[in-house]
Amino acid sequence: MSTRAWSEGPLFRDSDGIGFLAYGGDYNPEQWPEDVWLQDVELMKLAGVNLVTVGVFSWSKLQSGPGDYNFGWLDRILDLLHSAGIMVDLATATASPPAWLVEAHPEILPMTEFGTKLSFGSRQHYCPSSPQYRAAAAELAAAVANRYHNHPALRLWHIGNEYGCHVSACYCDISASSFRNWLRKRYGTLEAVNSAWGTDFWSQRYTSWAQINPPRSTPTFNNPSLKLDFARFSSDELLDCLLIERAEIRRVDQSVPITTNFMGLFRPIDAFKWAEALDVTSYDSYPDPADDEAHIVSALASDLTRSLGGGRPWLLMEQAPSAVNWRSINLSRAPGQYRALSLQAIARGSEGALCFQWRASRSGSEKFHSAMLPHVGTESRLWNEVVSLGKEIADLADIAGSTVSSSVGILFDWENWWALEMESHPSSDLRLVEVLLPIYRGLFELGVTVDFVHPGQDLNPYRLIIAPALYLIGDSPAASLATYVKAGGNVLVTFFSGIVDDEDHIRLGGYPAPWTETLGLVVEEFLPIPSGATVTMSGDLLGPLGGTGRLWSEEIRLKGATVLLSYLDEWRGDRPALTEHHICDGTAWYLSTLPDRESMRAILQMVCETSDVTPALAEPNGVEVVIRGGNLFLINHTKIPRRIDLGVPFFDRLGNTMVGPVLEVAPMDVLIVAAAAPGGV
Ligand code: GAL
Ligand code: ZN
Repeated sequence: MSTRAWSEGPLFRDSDGIGFLAYGGDYNPEQWPEDVWLQDVELMKLAGVNLVTVGVFSWSKLQSGPGDYNFGWLDRILDLLHSAGIMVDLATATASPPAWLVEAHPEILPMTEFGTKLSFGSRQHYCPSSPQYRAAAAELAAAVANRYHNHPALRLWHIGNEYGCHVSACYCDISASSFRNWLRKRYGTLEAVNSAWGTDFWSQRYTSWAQINPPRSTPTFNNPSLKLDFARFSSDELLDCLLIERAEIRRVDQSVPITTNFMGLFRPIDAFKWAEALDVTSYDSYPDPADDEAHIVSALASDLTRSLGGGRPWLLMEQAPSAVNWRSINLSRAPGQYRALSLQAIARGSEGALCFQWRASRSGSEKFHSAMLPHVGTESRLWNEVVSLGKEIADLADIAGSTVSSSVGILFDWENWWALEMESHPSSDLRLVEVLLPIYRGLFELGVTVDFVHPGQDLNPYRLIIAPALYLIGDSPAASLATYVKAGGNVLVTFFSGIVDDEDHIRLGGYPAPWTETLGLVVEEFLPIPSGATVTMSGDLLGPLGGTGRLWSEEIRLKGATVLLSYLDEWRGDRPALTEHHICDGTAWYLSTLPDRESMRAILQMVCETSDVTPALAEPNGVEVVIRGGNLFLINHTKIPRRIDLGVPFFDRLGNTMVGPVLEVAPMDVLIVAAAAPGGV
């Protein structure tokens, strides 16, 4: 997108034009009588809240029938917030269509692949293709934009909410006809569709457009190429809903940035494509406190959200200050964890830390979801944490607008994700995240920050490119990876990469056909490993004890690559597990299994060292280390104190004193150090 409403510097500025980091959360005043609002605003000031997201689920309160708007309450709360100096991320309120609209147009309700219509009574109950839903949402977005685009509290537009979270695809007849139109645009002729979908297999040839339907429930495997196109269509169809609202906003306002909240590793939405339509990317972070590695998942999603926005700062739109309500057992966050994960997001480029939600609800299905202001009130440990984090975030305002840089790019593509996880593959245990997360974790532990890179992007800014399970690859990105290596780039490719083209047709001639020359090998057969089993690997890199691999292995024929690790195989003899190939000035490694944690780290360390990738700190010693805008963030997510050697003394920004060179980071504590105090004190 050529003209963004915001592309650099602080995302948020106050009325004096000074940049700040946002602190606050979703605020749902419609759930409360107006006298509570006054208390809310007083407490927000106390907590250092400077930005709230208003109106996300207020459609039925804002509009009680066609053309029948009730904006008075929203006028009053926006004015009240503004008078207290609190700024607003204003929602278009279209995520949950009201009962009157559904009553008038029941065809708005979405249909599952089994033909079941979903009912009114929760939220997101709309078919993305529904002309009635689209028209009503556009009308509401226009009404909200017209009324508030000049409001002095407005800092951000929030279109919809978590698109696709509950209903990411609809299988109704309206969607079926929309799918056919989408196919007409993509392929032009029915013959081209037949060829792309390989319909001579199992007698699936179509002789008229009307015969084509969404992949509804079938006796056995539906056509994978059809399913892939339906995934593309479903993401595009929801994106159209966003674009329609965006156009309404941009009709009256060209300057306030627009966002919608993504969900990190959320499969249905091609967020690289969506991000083109946004001025700022944002993300809702709900890692499970029961997972000891929750902070690695949120770090990954933070890096992904930053990368979706092309490296620009982004926004942590939602997180739970403590427990959520929607898992079967909802653990609370440990004391200090809300702070640690908020500062983690800021370290990785967020322009603040927002929560769902400000005040804990009294009724409805989220009444047990934690909030900044809990049911128990202000005499609580959580409230104290909320207040003290507000102060710290205010002190870090100079960080707003600064960026995070990385010399490692992980190739990530939603179309690959959809195709990779289709049925009828060598192993249904192979899920993208199963491969991606261990690689990300290894780099995280080494203190190496990564970007996620769409395979179509320019690879040259990176010293090292990693392609984890990049099963589907188009012709041109496949060629550009090969060119990147020839020009001196370094690449690590894992198993089951480069297997199919854009239509999910096998690339023939030995796997991975586009890169056999780059990698100096051919994969002849896939040898998936049953769950629970492992293979043994040996090689100098792993020392005398060797290591193990799980999930996958392969039978490889070498064509120039050298073997760094081999499998010890009773039937097949020693075979290559990890290989290295030098081509022109570049190096290409190929990894044909998923190594255990230690082996993965050893492999990544070797690959990073060879590629001249330097970590944020030589010895992170179990602490998360990230650099943003000259500040080194040290976050200890573990239960034990960690010693860190910085080499030289640094200024501790939160403690306001010089520290180091050797220092200790307490459990769940965060240190932010810089060469000198901001402003050069
Ligand atoms: C998000 C959603 C919020 C709230 C929250 C609870 O998915 O955007 O409205 O429901 O989850 O964790
Ligand atoms: Zn539909």
